Amino acid sequence: MTHTGRFRLWRGDAEGGALTDFDVEVNDGEVVLDVIHRIQATQAPDLAVRWNCKAGKCGSCSAEIDGRPRLMCMTRMSQFAPQDVVTVTPMRTFPVIRDLVTDVSFNYAKAREVPAFTPPADLAPGEYRMAQADVQRSQEFRKCIECFLCQDVCHVVRDHEENKPAFAGPRFLMRIAELELHPLDVADRVPAAQDEHGLGLCNITKCCTDVCPEGIKITDNALIPMKERVADRRYDPVVWLGRTIRRR
Ligand code: SF4
Ligand code: F3S
Ligand code: FES
Repeated sequence: MTHTGRFRLWRGDAEGGALTDFDVEVNDGEVVLDVIHRIQATQAPDLAVRWNCKAGKCGSCSAEIDGRPRLMCMTRMSQFAPQDVVTVTPMRTFPVIRDLVTDVSFNYAKAREVPAFTPPADLAPGEYRMAQADVQRSQEFRKCIECFLCQDVCHVVRDHEENKPAFAGPRFLMRIAELELHPLDVADRVPAAQDEHGLGLCNITKCCTDVCPEGIKITDNALIPMKERVADRRYDPVVWLGRTIRRR
């Protein structure tokens, strides 16, 4: 079955832009990205859109569909009624380059601020041993496709440009948690998580978890355990005494 769908796309660049309406053919089984490609092929050849795999695995086609951060290639047209207007806008948290394409370099800068995996100095490659439960924890975090939808939705930076220098965002706080909870990582990542990467700014709204296309439990499995470690350090009387004595 084919029908004429109604799309409203944000078009513009860093200087400004506006929503533009398109009537476009929609076929059974299509996803939003298919329809965007048809608009590009038939009506707006200069429409800028970033994509790569069309299989929910490269993390490139992130945008906001009716205001919700989503992958365009994983959003089925069948969830909309034929008369619905489908509005597609670029991710709001990052600067627009053109049309639906944003500059996500904020995320690469934050990635570089996280020190690499630090195994014990006396452990040679091939000697690493860890429990299956620890492997599985890392594997959940490693499902991340770096779509940055969690970074886009988090209110700490979504409407607060001023918070960006002090906040790594859920994806990179999760990376810090992955390493901190890793049995073979000997770096102490707790103070920096709180003081340099902005863990304290997260008030566990769980919006990041809600939008993650990989279903990673970012808040429950990464952010809350990190917050617990911070709280243990700050309020454990033995740790407090040790720090106080060291300061004297
Ligand atoms: Fe995307 Fe999920 Fe990774 Fe965030 S944690 S970047 S939402 S895959
Ligand atoms: Fe932001 Fe996720 Fe915390 S949306 S406030 S990082 S729980
Ligand atoms: Fe790769 Fe959508 S095109 S995730």
